[in-house]
Amino acid sequence: MGVKQAVLCRAVEFRPSALDLLESGYIHRGEPGQGLKITREIVLQLRQKGKVKLGQLDLEGALIARDRVGIQDFVLLDAHNSETAFLDNLKKRFSEDLIYTYIGTLLISVNPYKELDIYNKKQMDLYMGVNFFELPPHIYALADNAYHTMLTEANNHFILISGESGAGKTEASKKILQYYAVSCPSTALLDTVRDRMLMSNPVLEAFGNAKTMKNDNSSRFGKYMDIQFDSQGDAVGGHILSYLLEKSRVVHQNHGERNFHIFYQLVEGGEEDLLRHLGLEKDTKRYSYLVQGQCSNVSSINDKNDWKTVKNALSVIDFDANDTEHLFGIIASVLHLGNVHFDGDTKGYAVLNSNAGLRWVSKLLGVHVQVLQEALTYRKIEAKSEEVLSPFTVDHAVYARDALAKAIYGRTFTWLVNRINESLENKDSSRKTVIGLLDIYGFEVFFVNSFEQFCINYCNEKLQQLFIELTLKAEQEEYEGEGIGWEPVQFFNNKIICDLVEEKHRGIISVLDEECLRPGDASDLTFLEKLEEKMGNHPHFVTHKLADKKTRKTLERGDFRLLHYAGEVTYCVVGFIDKNNDLLYKNIKDVMRLSKNPIIQECFPANEGDSKRRPETVATQFKNSLLRLTEILMAKEPWYVRCLKSNDNKQPGKFDEVLVRHQVKYLGLMEHLRVRRAGFAYRRRYEVFLKRYKALCPATWPHWRGVPADGVEKLVKHLGYQPDEYKMGRTKIFIRYARTLFATEDAFEICKHELATRIQAKYKGYRAKGEFRKQKEAATKIETCWRGVQARKERDRRAWAVKVIKKFIKGYITRREAKTTDNSEYLAFVRQSYLNRLKNNLPKTVLDKTTWLTPPPVMTETSEILRQLHTRMMVRKYVRGLTAQRKAQLQQKVVTSAMFKGKKDSYPPSISVPFVDTRISEQDINMRVLQTIRQERIKYSVPVVKYDRNGFKSRQRQLIFTQAAVYMVEEAKIKQRVDYVSLKGVSVSNLGDSIMILHVACDDPKQKGDLILECDHLFEALTKLAMVAKKQNNIKVVQGSIKFEIHAGKENCVDFSTGQEPMVYKGKNGHLMVVAPRIKSR
Ligand SMILES: Nc1ncnc2c1ncn2[C@@H]1O[C@H](COP(=O)(O)OP(=O)(O)OP(=O)(O)O)[C@@H](O)[C@H]1O
Ligand SMILES: [Mg+2]
Repeated sequence: MGVKQAVLCRAVEFRPSALDLLESGYIHRGEPGQGLKITREIVLQLRQKGKVKLGQLDLEGALIARDRVGIQDFVLLDAHNSETAFLDNLKKRFSEDLIYTYIGTLLISVNPYKELDIYNKKQMDLYMGVNFFELPPHIYALADNAYHTMLTEANNHFILISGESGAGKTEASKKILQYYAVSCPSTALLDTVRDRMLMSNPVLEAFGNAKTMKNDNSSRFGKYMDIQFDSQGDAVGGHILSYLLEKSRVVHQNHGERNFHIFYQLVEGGEEDLLRHLGLEKDTKRYSYLVQGQCSNVSSINDKNDWKTVKNALSVIDFDANDTEHLFGIIASVLHLGNVHFDGDTKGYAVLNSNAGLRWVSKLLGVHVQVLQEALTYRKIEAKSEEVLSPFTVDHAVYARDALAKAIYGRTFTWLVNRINESLENKDSSRKTVIGLLDIYGFEVFFVNSFEQFCINYCNEKLQQLFIELTLKAEQEEYEGEGIGWEPVQFFNNKIICDLVEEKHRGIISVLDEECLRPGDASDLTFLEKLEEKMGNHPHFVTHKLADKKTRKTLERGDFRLLHYAGEVTYCVVGFIDKNNDLLYKNIKDVMRLSKNPIIQECFPANEGDSKRRPETVATQFKNSLLRLTEILMAKEPWYVRCLKSNDNKQPGKFDEVLVRHQVKYLGLMEHLRVRRAGFAYRRRYEVFLKRYKALCPATWPHWRGVPADGVEKLVKHLGYQPDEYKMGRTKIFIRYARTLFATEDAFEICKHELATRIQAKYKGYRAKGEFRKQKEAATKIETCWRGVQARKERDRRAWAVKVIKKFIKGYITRREAKTTDNSEYLAFVRQSYLNRLKNNLPKTVLDKTTWLTPPPVMTETSEILRQLHTRMMVRKYVRGLTAQRKAQLQQKVVTSAMFKGKKDSYPPSISVPFVDTRISEQDINMRVLQTIRQERIKYSVPVVKYDRNGFKSRQRQLIFTQAAVYMVEEAKIKQRVDYVSLKGVSVSNLGDSIMILHVACDDPKQKGDLILECDHLFEALTKLAMVAKKQNNIKVVQGSIKFEIHAGKENCVDFSTGQEPMVYKGKNGHLMVVAPRIKSR
């Protein structure tokens, strides 16, 4: 495929669709759910893997984006022939600050006249390596795609930036350069190249740009810059070609315009020392070359700051102090030259009015002032072998001065470009590819158009021709290649105009040159006449003379009009001859050669004038340089940026429709669109088309096994394409209308979502399954581990248990042996368990003798100690709880016990019956008795039954114990008093009766004999008695009968027996018979 053809194909080639990605498995690399979103990463990955060919661009991005603001790509504009629709789209986007729009791969940029936040690092990153149509149109997209295409296809490219003055060409080229500076890989060494490339801009702008009526920073030269890349894509060098600097500006500026920036920067910003050295004053108004436009100060320009930038830039591009000194010496010398004025002498010849300015020129250029003066006021005429000096008129002198100023400045500019080239040069001979940036003046139409406009517009004709050739031919070749009948495209072939201007011997330039070189009085008007002569019939050439009546009114006599492809331009011939000649008198050149300034020396080489041939005229030089440029460009692949000016007032947000329409016309954008569409809005290789849309037809989905073309045929039939809507080529389908494609794309969008949902669902299912399986495996693993842990624990526990049991058994067996290691634990256990059991089973009362647990053998001794301790503790507790009264009672009981325990049957039941202080209170004792015995203090009284000693008659009596005696009282009568001394003792039976016999000493005549008493409180009464009378040892328990004395020397007996019923009666034997009740336990 030819280079040119590739240009067109690029727009319709393969780009990965979502389905491509899905099918190739790349979609997995995205997040689930991102489904069909083609991320930048994926595209980059594909690129790295070589799956997507770089630079092969498509329309799908634009298709998808068409619903945003306007249409991003004019190729998809249905009304592609309508200029109004075209402008509407531009305007709609411009109003949303969307200044970029594509026509295929051509980028239209509308100057917003305001800073937009779309040129930052983030944006650069966004566009880096991303396919052309994936993101909204941007200058970065174009730059990036040119770069990547260059890298993958290893060929050369150029980006042609055109548009009228102030449309934003220079800004665009700077943006591209900045993009490469940031996006290309770099090293420290390459950083220098990169910086130099970036810094060449402010220098060239300072020397080559100026404020014009249209643009405060208008480039007054054409610039073509090659950026050289090595095979890795590193920017390794550069080269700049400059075209046709507008030198006339050095000596003349229209009202409202300025000279080149550098003059103002030097004067305004130059350091004191430097200015002194250059003989300059800090006042631009003092220099006639700077005051003609009457606007040396412009609000948008800060000359002081720019001066610093330029100085810094010069140092970056390798200018040393000497270089800068000489360079600014020249700039200053031009300013001084402008201040050289002439007066006429009497003969009208020019004489210097003051030589102050000239002195500085001479100093700065290192030329003798005298020589210089002569050169400016005399012309040297070589007549045969001698030279004759002919004086100049004032006009001539001024002309010579200005010519010198222009020549010095122009040549210095060329020198500067060369010098920058040296600093950018890459001396390495390895293979490099280049991207050329062409920032060239756009078509210009002024009120008065001169030689410069003629050259500029000619240049644009050439570039338009180049573009048409490149695009149209490629388009045609594709049609041929595809076997589709060429559908003629309505476009204006401007070859005819190019020929009109440049044709050898016949073209305007030839005529102009001829007129310039012709001996005799050639003038601008004679040149016009010649033109009329030669071009008389040309359909694109009109002059006042040639025009019809109507047209003539619009033309001056000195004008000629060319019907350019972009529109009519009327040129005024005045100045054509001079400007084309650009004459510098030979003696001035010779003087310059003597200069001590090394830059001037280089600019005016010694061998320049040697050749006898006349130097080429400006137009021819320009024509040739354009020819060379065309050759350079033809060998490269083109990318276009067309800049449009939104309005003439540099006003942000204003879209001047008339102005833009005009530019659209003369930039040939409609032409371009027509050619790009060339009858068909869209074309696509069968495989690719099928791959993208096969999901829309059951016959082709999911796979088409046959020939792709047949598949596509089936597909489009299924979609209902009408025969006039498409054509089938050899390898591609051509779709005529964008709307057909939109409908297909819409259907695909819907289908894609369905598919995506299905794929997503499947994928989610797959993921979920995988996740579930993983979780299950993990759970099993955890379970296994856990069980293992548990089992090991259980095993250890059992082992431990076995050990413990074994030890227990062993301990049990040896429990009676002395403490050994074998039984110590067992014994401890036994001890502990016994003590624990004991703790819970302690006897609650002292009387409880049965509860105490039988101790194991090892604890016998301990148990006994404990038991005693416990008993003692209970006793102690009990004792502590006793009242004094109770204590006394118990002490009495103790006495009772000592006397009767185990001796008398009725004793045990009596134990629990508590003793009282007395059984008869004092109130119940007769007063008289009381009075009698009170002094003896009554200790105890109890009612008793007294049996007579003789008849055993029973009588109720009160028995009273005092401190000294026992009283037997009947009512108020004391029946008997027995002194304790007389009381020999007391006898009771061992049975359960209540009889007591008080033995009284019979030797006392006052005494009556022993007392036989029956007392219900026998033990109580006897205890009290024993204690009061201290008779414990005299109270006897007797078995069988008890004798008693009736009186001295006479005795009887009381017989005791047991029986059913207790009874007391007189026995037949004369004894007192006492039957005691039977008491069960003794
Ligand atoms: N993309 C942009 N964003 C913001 N402002 C811009 C942009 N492009 C251009 N401009 C504005 O427009 C002015 C003119 O732009 P520029 O100098 O690039 O025009 P040009 O086409 O090179 O003109 P000339 O042919 O006179 O050199 C700039 O100084 C700037 O103020
Ligand atoms: Mg410019």
